[in-house]
Amino acid sequence: MDIRHATVRDARGICDLVNALAEEGLMLHRSLEDVFDSVREFLVAVDGERLLGCVSVDVFWGGLAEIRSLAVAPDARDRGVGGALVDAAINDAHHLGINKVFALTYEKPFFEKRGFHVVDLKTLPEKVWRECLHWYAKGYRHETAVLRELDVPSAAAPAPPFDILDEVD
Ligand SMILES: CC(C)(COP(=O)(O)OP(=O)(O)OC[C@H]1O[C@@H](n2cnc3c(N)ncnc32)[C@H](O)[C@@H]1OP(=O)(O)O)[C@@H](O)C(=O)NCCC(=O)NCCS
Repeated sequence: MDIRHATVRDARGICDLVNALAEEGLMLHRSLEDVFDSVREFLVAVDGERLLGCVSVDVFWGGLAEIRSLAVAPDARDRGVGGALVDAAINDAHHLGINKVFALTYEKPFFEKRGFHVVDLKTLPEKVWRECLHWYAKGYRHETAVLRELDVPSAAAPAPPFDILDEVD
């Protein structure tokens, strides 16, 4: 198995894998357009030509990223593929200078074994919990927010430019 950054050739496979699990209510759907748009954020696990799994690392701000769309094909599970994808995502986030990585998940023990701890959803950016409330209202189960701190100097995260908003007032 190899873990590598996705290319446009992986987009259709990523889309099919994620959306099959989304149909089971395990994650959110991603359109093909969305996958192409964020293809640079995806890592894939492959065995030759076969796509075994994928994950994306979405940067929110200087110090915060979300692990999204973590998906392993049902017949490739329990062989370390998911763990290897999370390790690669963490490595990517670290490389980018991110010092906190979070995920919204139904797989709390899986993430806890990989250095994440449960956090209150309200401590995450409004955009995150608003989206959660939206999906909860549509009948999705409540996901658990988990977070892992990385050993990256916090100076990598600039303060939001809220003074721009003050000037607008
Ligand atoms: C959650 C998910 C990504 C895990 O993927 P996975 O490839 O099965 O994960 P791993 O194989 O790395 O780990 C799962 C278990 O397999 C076992 N395992 C890991 N490596 C192994 C190996 N080399 N040989 C045998 N078993 C192994 C372990 O028991 C591990 O359990 P642990 O959590 O106690 O370590 C996968 O089940 C999935 O796609 N689920 C549906 C979508 C989903 O819920 N995604 C998460 C959204 S955030």
